[in-house]
Amino acid sequence: MVTAYDAPGARLADAAGVDLILVGDSAAMVVLGHDSTVPATMDEMLVLTRAATRGARRPLVVADMPFGSFQVSDEHALENQLRFVKEAGADAVKLEGGGPTLSRVRTIVGAGIPVMGHIGLTPQSATMLGGFKAQGRTAEKARRLVDDALALEAAGCFSIVLEAVPAPVAERITAALAVPTIGIGAGAACDGQVLVYHDLLGLYEGRAPRFVKRYADLASEIRRALEAYVADVRGGAFPEEQHTYAMPEEELGAFLDAEYVRADDE
Ligand code: KIV
Repeated sequence: MVTAYDAPGARLADAAGVDLILVGDSAAMVVLGHDSTVPATMDEMLVLTRAATRGARRPLVVADMPFGSFQVSDEHALENQLRFVKEAGADAVKLEGGGPTLSRVRTIVGAGIPVMGHIGLTPQSATMLGGFKAQGRTAEKARRLVDDALALEAAGCFSIVLEAVPAPVAERITAALAVPTIGIGAGAACDGQVLVYHDLLGLYEGRAPRFVKRYADLASEIRRALEAYVADVRGGAFPEEQHTYAMPEEELGAFLDAEYVRADDE
């Protein structure tokens, strides 16, 4: 699984053989420039999901329910998630957390929509978790994660994301569940892996989280190309003949011969 937030990104992920595309609320940070995922709105996520579903053919597209879209009540969560399916073409939705999230999962799955769970480091509640930190690092907290995962599975989740949890804990959770786990910073024993598009492609400047493997350095490549474009325009090297349009000789002659009179000179 990889995140994508627009049609070209989803199309490329599809062509690369990715099985699941997550339109993550990480978009708030990597696309919209916020410091956290909390400000992402339903309207923003719907636009991004619509674009991604236009680009993806084969992969399952999972829309991330943004903060505030499922916390209020089961009914409110169901109304919002229906919009992702009806208006944006999503195949499934993802919800962060255990506890109160369980009744949301039951309600949404009861309406016939697949739900992906997400436990461990859940960025929407990062403040309560003490920041963007690994979770489940004591025996008691690790046991609680196993309980949350089992409860989400029992509530009907078809898959669960495990974010930033020690690898042996993720391995134990994966063994305990019948549904697949998708890891991000959770080790190799998970059934699948997910990375944020911009992280794996190096589409930003700055330090990546520990669990990211960068497969490209596109930020440098894009910057190099933009600098070359700016230099070409300023220096007159672009556009060249090949970038312009011709017109028939006689039309050009007639155009150049005609006396040009400004409307306000008449
Ligand atoms: O929003 C997101 O991109 C996510 C992934 C990191 C799992 O939730």
